[in-house]
Amino acid sequence: MHIPILLKESIDSLNLKEGDVVVDCTTNRGGHSLEISKRIGKNGNLICLDLDGQALKEAQVFLKSELKDNSPNIFFVNENFRNIKKVLKDLKFEKIDGLMADLGVSSQEIDESGRGFTFQKNEPLYMTLQDKISEDALTAEKIVNTWDEENIADIIYYYGDERFAKRIAKNICLERKNKEIKSTFDLVEIIKKSVPEKYKHQKIHFATKTFQALRITVNDELRAEEELVQALPEILKENKRASFLTFHSGEDRVLKKSVNLLKDELRFIKFDNKKNFLEPERKEIFENPRSRSAKLRVVEKKYAN
Ligand SMILES: C[S@@+](CC[C@H](N)C(=O)[O-])C[C@H]1O[C@@H](n2cnc3c(N)ncnc32)[C@H](O)[C@@H]1O
Repeated sequence: MHIPILLKESIDSLNLKEGDVVVDCTTNRGGHSLEISKRIGKNGNLICLDLDGQALKEAQVFLKSELKDNSPNIFFVNENFRNIKKVLKDLKFEKIDGLMADLGVSSQEIDESGRGFTFQKNEPLYMTLQDKISEDALTAEKIVNTWDEENIADIIYYYGDERFAKRIAKNICLERKNKEIKSTFDLVEIIKKSVPEKYKHQKIHFATKTFQALRITVNDELRAEEELVQALPEILKENKRASFLTFHSGEDRVLKKSVNLLKDELRFIKFDNKKNFLEPERKEIFENPRSRSAKLRVVEKKYAN
């Protein structure tokens, strides 16, 4: 089960009301969408986006069974949120009252998709968020078998914050000369050979950062996030808000930088803790360890001068 993270806080912050038009950019199986639906009611409109078509189908069934006759008008769109302007135009919505973006992958995608997001199981090394993979799609397998060593080192270092990036990239390029790297376990073995013994006994699994870096690269996640923020001044109504949940420093940096570049039009709201972000409380982290690195930031569109 994917347990929605900072659910109440992220949706409360949007100040939604009956009849609002809202986009859930990262619907997955509908955890945040359900909460949004309850706030905007039968007269509201909810646009549910996700790259994972299978997850979106499951969200449709879930929301129908939970909301019954009280459902807003819901549009399910299997699209990248970087194309949000086009999606809204096609659906004939000019501006929206709220937006949710719970970035990255869901627990189900990691545990059950079979697309190679996990180092716990032996799966093909795809790492695509799309459930259907086209011939020409970039996959983690293509990266590790065809990119040059320097590029592989760079993505592992910059997107994974992995200090052993150079050694891992070097060993990837050595090993692939003998045998193509096809599965998650092939890759885990190479990472294992590349990091010091002490590193293998830390709280975070030694392959976590490399896997994260490959996933971010395959899905061009940081650029998609940047483009989503760039669209906000145009699609949000004045004084309306977008909630962002980020899960690693790269995502959080992109959000801060992109909002800062648009500071004449956008601002981060301040929470009661006087900061412009919230983190899960100890109880939530205890109940759902995957929430441990989450940060909620809420962006507001300023009034025009
Ligand atoms: C953390 S999950 C969202 C979980 C959901 N909020 C819930 O609580 O049930 C992130 C979802 O965003 C999707 N996703 C990630 N990047 C995307 C993008 N650029 N465009 C559309 N969907 C994306 C993933 O496929 C995944 O289903």
